[in-house]
Amino acid sequence: MLFSYGSLLAALALAANTQSTDDPSGAVPDTDAIEPPDFNVTAALFDLGVNVAELPAAQLVDRSSNAACSIACASLQGIYGPASVDFSNEPTYDTFTSGYWSQIQENVNPYCIFRAPDKTAVSVVILLSRLTTCPFAVKSGGHAAFNGASSIDGGITVSLAALNQIIVSNDKKSVAVGPGNTWNAVYSKLQSYNIAVIGGRVAPIGTGGLTTGGGISFFSSIYGWACDNVNSYDVVLSSGAQVNASPTSFPDLYWALRGGGNNFGIVVNFNYAAISLPGGNMWGGTRVYTENNFPAVTKAFASVVQNSPSDGNAGLWVAWLANNGTKIAATELYYAKPNGQNAAIFKPFNNITAISDSTQNRQLAPYTAELATSNPYGLRETYYGLTVKADQSLADAAKDIFYQELPATANVSGANPVMVYQGITLPEIQQMTKNGGNPLGIYASDGPLYLIHVACWWNNASDDPIIYAFITKVLNRLKAAATKINKQNDYIYMNYGGLYEDVIKSYGADNKAKLKSISLKYDPDQVFQKLQPGYFKLDRAPFVDPRYYSG
Ligand SMILES: Cc1cc2nc3c(=O)[nH]c(=O)nc-3n(C[C@H](O)[C@H](O)[C@H](O)COP(=O)(O)OP(=O)(O)OC[C@H]3O[C@@H](n4cnc5c(N)ncnc54)[C@H](O)[C@@H]3O)c2cc1C
Ligand SMILES: *[C@@H]1O[C@H](CO)[C@@H](O)[C@H](O)[C@H]1NC(C)=O
Ligand SMILES: *[C@@H]1O[C@H](CO)[C@@H](O)[C@H](O)[C@H]1NC(C)=O
Ligand SMILES: *[C@@H]1O[C@H](CO)[C@@H](O)[C@H](O)[C@H]1NC(C)=O
Ligand SMILES: *[C@@H]1O[C@H](CO)[C@@H](O)[C@H](O)[C@H]1NC(C)=O
Ligand SMILES: *[C@@H]1O[C@H](CO)[C@@H](O)[C@H](O)[C@H]1NC(C)=O
Repeated sequence: MLFSYGSLLAALALAANTQSTDDPSGAVPDTDAIEPPDFNVTAALFDLGVNVAELPAAQLVDRSSNAACSIACASLQGIYGPASVDFSNEPTYDTFTSGYWSQIQENVNPYCIFRAPDKTAVSVVILLSRLTTCPFAVKSGGHAAFNGASSIDGGITVSLAALNQIIVSNDKKSVAVGPGNTWNAVYSKLQSYNIAVIGGRVAPIGTGGLTTGGGISFFSSIYGWACDNVNSYDVVLSSGAQVNASPTSFPDLYWALRGGGNNFGIVVNFNYAAISLPGGNMWGGTRVYTENNFPAVTKAFASVVQNSPSDGNAGLWVAWLANNGTKIAATELYYAKPNGQNAAIFKPFNNITAISDSTQNRQLAPYTAELATSNPYGLRETYYGLTVKADQSLADAAKDIFYQELPATANVSGANPVMVYQGITLPEIQQMTKNGGNPLGIYASDGPLYLIHVACWWNNASDDPIIYAFITKVLNRLKAAATKINKQNDYIYMNYGGLYEDVIKSYGADNKAKLKSISLKYDPDQVFQKLQPGYFKLDRAPFVDPRYYSG
């Protein structure tokens, strides 16, 4: 061993003891948080207890990517020990890479995987990336579907799994949640407190990706989206400083984090407002309808979205698909209290004959687990969508366009295309103005929106162009249909964004400009744009290819 790490580890232990990273008040003082022009990465690492002189990073001469990442990963291993860093020759590496939802991300091969043991380690890995220029990506629940989103070829993939705190405040009004959690874990723990938070509807989705991109919940027509129910974020900036962003502390950063994705920092703790949910009790399930009832289903869908202001407990999505050639609509209806079947808002659905119906009283956590069964791991996957202004004629048209184009996928091995409708309801949009608003560019004056996306899984990479061309055609036709009747809308939901979509542009020119200036203020070297190149960046789609729909 060329290097002695004894003193280094002692220094780290000291740093961990003196810095209460769980307590936002222990964060770096405000004046130090914004990176100065003469920022010194080596000195910042030293302040965290990492002496670069003792690391392989000190040997850095050749900044070619492989050497950079070899040195960065060896340095992480030196500091945190072999169990925290996996290389491609280790079985733990394969276990990790096969833990992504989409095969497309599973096929990504990072130089190493870093299992950040604590929040300080998140600061250290950002600074080591800057020191070496080895790029990184960050994984929470790993449900982003395309390559580079939460794993990076040849770079450092950072696992946040160890940041899995779920801490209920004494008054049960807020919950501190780490990005290492899935929603099922969060809801399971909160059930015994008779509370919940605003988060995802499917068990294994990560808190990190869902909340930084927006976050549609079963309860959103009462409380808004997940990002609008975060009281504050503990976030590690490009300087390695950890700050607490809230309506009163770094309010511009707080605004940017409410839907700005991975562009501003790595969130190490979400402080969510809690909601009351006695026993986790609610209602929901799937009703499946055949083609003869499609006109009634679109009418009922449009009615529930339109009438949301009358009963925010209700929510739904409709999945249009073809099961062995037979067209069906699988409608998920849910209600924030038991016995939603009696809610007046669902009446238009109650007299449509379903071929199956699993609606029943449920508890939140097991409900998310049941919904996970229809989203298997290990296949190639895409989510790819847009929004239009709510209008029943578009609800009728979109599924027709989808079914008309569907034959294009007939020869794709294992293809399972689905078109999904959801509402972005008026009450949801009104909640977006809480605490200074968010950057999404969704306004109540536009009325409710339909969020429509095509999801698909399939087997082979060689078929990717067929799938993306099919979706492009569907979305282009839908956009044209909306434009024709003046119901066009720009917004693209990041969490359902396709790999060729320019999501931040869809937030509108003013919001984009504001986001860029906030990025330059907190990240003057643009670390989160350049050294963390994956996912939806401020200036571009994840991938640019003019053949495919870009928004
Ligand atoms: C089966 C399924 C069900 C879904 N259900 C819902 C739903 O009910 N509601 C909804 O709104 N969306 C839903 N989604 C979409 C989902 O929100 C996105 O796929 C989201 O990106 C997943 O988050 P993740 O943490 O699992 O993914 P990851 O792939 O781990 O992360 C996604 C992106 O966020 C970044 N990121 C993660 N954690 C952090 C952090 N702590 N700080 C900064 N950046 C971070 C990552 O770097 C990555 O770029 C669903 C998706 C699937 C596949
Ligand atoms: C950065 O900090 C290190 C460690 O404190 C110091 O040795 C080095 O000279 C500094 N570099 C610059 C450019 O100031
Ligand atoms: C699919 O449909 C074909 C023709 O209608 C039928 O022969 C076949 O059994 C069906 N397969 C399944 C799995 O239902
Ligand atoms: C179903 O309910 C809707 C709205 O309540 C009503 O317009 C329609 O006539 C009903 N249809 C049947 C078959 O009862
Ligand atoms: C599917 O394959 C068949 C048989 O090779 C071919 O006739 C048909 O045109 C193909 N369809 C598409 C959409 O590519
Ligand atoms: C596609 O995938 C299927 C199933 O995994 C496999 O049998 C087939 O050989 C693949 N085809 C191509 C062209 O890769």
